[in-house]
Amino acid sequence: MMMDSALLLLLLWALIGTTSPQASAGPCVERLQGGERKTRACPRTCKSDAECGSKRQCLCDGECGLSCVAPGRTCPWPLHSNENLVFRLVSATPSFSALLEVHCKPGLTLPDGLDVTVRRCQGDRQWSGDEPICAEAQSPGHTPPPTCPLPEEVINTFSIHGDASVGTSIRYSCLSGADVVGSRENFCQDNQTWMHPHPVCKKLFCQPPKEVQQGYVVAVQKTEYEVAFDIHYLCKKNYRLDGPQKITCLSNGSWSASPPHCRARCVIPAERSRVVIGGVKRWPFDVTDAMVPHGENVTFYCKHPKKQCSFTAAQACFDGKLQTPECYLGKPKQAVPVICTRTSQPLLRQRLLYFLF
Ligand SMILES: *[C@@H]1O[C@H](CO)[C@@H](O)[C@H](O)[C@H]1NC(C)=O
Ligand SMILES: *[C@@H]1O[C@H](CO)[C@@H](O)[C@H](O)[C@H]1NC(C)=O
Ligand SMILES: *[C@@H]1O[C@H](CO)[C@@H](O)[C@H](O)[C@H]1NC(C)=O
Repeated sequence: MMMDSALLLLLLWALIGTTSPQASAGPCVERLQGGERKTRACPRTCKSDAECGSKRQCLCDGECGLSCVAPGRTCPWPLHSNENLVFRLVSATPSFSALLEVHCKPGLTLPDGLDVTVRRCQGDRQWSGDEPICAEAQSPGHTPPPTCPLPEEVINTFSIHGDASVGTSIRYSCLSGADVVGSRENFCQDNQTWMHPHPVCKKLFCQPPKEVQQGYVVAVQKTEYEVAFDIHYLCKKNYRLDGPQKITCLSNGSWSASPPHCRARCVIPAERSRVVIGGVKRWPFDVTDAMVPHGENVTFYCKHPKKQCSFTAAQACFDGKLQTPECYLGKPKQAVPVICTRTSQPLLRQRLLYFLF
C-alpha cells in the first residue's frame, strides 16, 4: 500500500509537471506523431498564447505537447460508465488538466495490479488514456502455495483427504478398501518434502471359495489366492455345471461370482409309456441309464380323465429330482380342463405298443 501511494504521488507529480504552462523552458513534450500518440485528436499546436487567439491559451496538453486550449472547458463529469469503477475528481473542477483518480470496486484490481490510475482532462475535453478494466483481485498469495509432490502411483492407490500444500497434512485410505500399512497421516514440510514415507495398501487375497460338491477345481488348491487368480470348475461324470465355469479373485478380495453347482441327473419316472426328450419321442429304457441330465425337460403323456385320448405335460429335471406330472398314470386327481393335442394318440394304442415291446 505504501508503495502504491508513493507511485501515485510520483505519477501525480509527473502529470502536474507536464501541465506546466511554461511555453519555453517547461518539461512539455514535443507533440508525438500519430502512431506513437494515444490521444486521438490534438488541438492546434503552438509556441505562445499569441498564436491561439483571445479565448485560448498555449498550454502543455500531455502527448499533444503545446497546444491551443480553452482552459475553462470541461471533461465529462460525473462519470458512470462502468459499475466496477469508482471515480474521484482530484481537482476542484473537471476542467483542462484536472486529475481524476480511477479505482476498482473492492475485490477487483486494475490490470497492472495497482489500486488506482490517474486520468487527465485533455485539451480535446476527454480524459486521458483508456478506461481501465477491473479484474478479480489477485491477493499477494495468488501464486499457488508450494506443495509436496504426490506421485501418480500414490494418487492411483489411495483416496487422499486434505491438500498437499506446505504446512498442511493429508490422510490416506486405500482405494481398494485394503488396510493402510504405514502412517495414515502425512505432513508437508516447509522444504516441500513429506514428513513420513507414503504408506502402502495391504495386498488383498481371496479366501478359498466354498467347495463344489461333485465338482473339481482345475487349479492348485491354496490357502489364499492372489488378485486376478482364476479358478476353473469341472463336474464329475453325469453331473452338469450350473453357474460360472470360472471365477476370478477381484482386487477387493472378493470372488467375481459364487462358485457353481454340479447338478445330478434324474431317473425318468416312467416305465410303461413313452416320453419326449429333446423333441424326440422315446421309451425311457432306450435312454442311457434311463436318466436325463439336470435341466432337461421331459414331456409326459397323460390320460384325459374322460376322453379316450392323451395330452402332454412337461417337467424339468432339477439336481436329481424329476417328478411325474400330477396328471400322469394313476394320479388323475383333479379334473384339469385340458385339451387333447392333435399329436396325442389314443391311450389304448399306446398301451398296446407297450405290450408289443
Ligand atoms: C526437509 O526438512 C526436514 C525437517 O526440517 C528435514 O528433516 C529434511 O532432511 C529436509 N529434506 C531435505 C531434502 O532438505
Ligand atoms: C468387490 O468388488 C465387486 C466389483 O467391483 C463388488 O461387486 C463387490 O461387492 C466388492 N466386494 C466387497 C467386499 O467390497
Ligand atoms: C425346459 O423348459 C423351460 C420352460 O419351458 C425352458 O425355459 C428351458 O429352456 C427348457 N430346457 C431345455 C434343456 O430345453
